[in-house]
Amino acid sequence: MLAELKKAGKEYKVGDQTIVALQPTDFTMREGELTLIIGPSGSGKTTLLSLLGCVIYPSYGDLWVDGQHINALKENQLARLRLETIGFVFQNFNLLMPLSAEENVAMPLKLMNVKSAEIKRRVKEALEVVDMTDRRKNMQQNSAGCPAGGTAQRPPSISSDGASSDCDRR
Ligand SMILES: Nc1ncnc2c1ncn2[C@@H]1O[C@H](COP(=O)(O)OP(=O)(O)OP(=O)(O)O)[C@@H](O)[C@H]1O
Ligand SMILES: [Mg+2]
Repeated sequence: MLAELKKAGKEYKVGDQTIVALQPTDFTMREGELTLIIGPSGSGKTTLLSLLGCVIYPSYGDLWVDGQHINALKENQLARLRLETIGFVFQNFNLLMPLSAEENVAMPLKLMNVKSAEIKRRVKEALEVVDMTDRRKNMQQNSAGCPAGGTAQRPPSISSDGASSDCDRR
């Protein structure tokens, strides 16, 4: 089991209003599965992916990722789990703008202390998959390259938010 939500949901307090971003949800993600999450704008897709991607904690219910009970983890433990277990292709890319395409893809690998020759190899491979080798030194945001950043870590789980609309088919 890669991830499991049990009656997990998310609320935000904005002024005196409480916004329910995700109603209590049961969900299981197993190895080898491809899951599509479909729903109208504002229904909580990004919130669900952010929970599965360990970007946010649930407001209620329980969440397990890679066998760990997320509710009980500290911020730094969550950051380590994100780095080692999850590839995340964000809806709005979240690329580091001063860095080139290849530097963006390399960043999580550097944080994982992967050796530089191996980083070079994996970055090359990830950019080839999305046909961006010729633009590897480019700095501008480019939707075609966004999945490369989520895959070079070789994570057990990849979350891709809005990829069908915000990234192209590659
Ligand atoms: N940080 C936040 N603070 C306050 N409200 C939020 C926050 N994040 C999400 N919401 C609200 O929670 C609801 C669900 O948002 P979410 O982004 O998960 O929807 P979505 O299904 O991904 O939508 P879209 O298809 O437009 O990407 C929305 O009403 C949104 O405004
Ligand atoms: Mg969204």
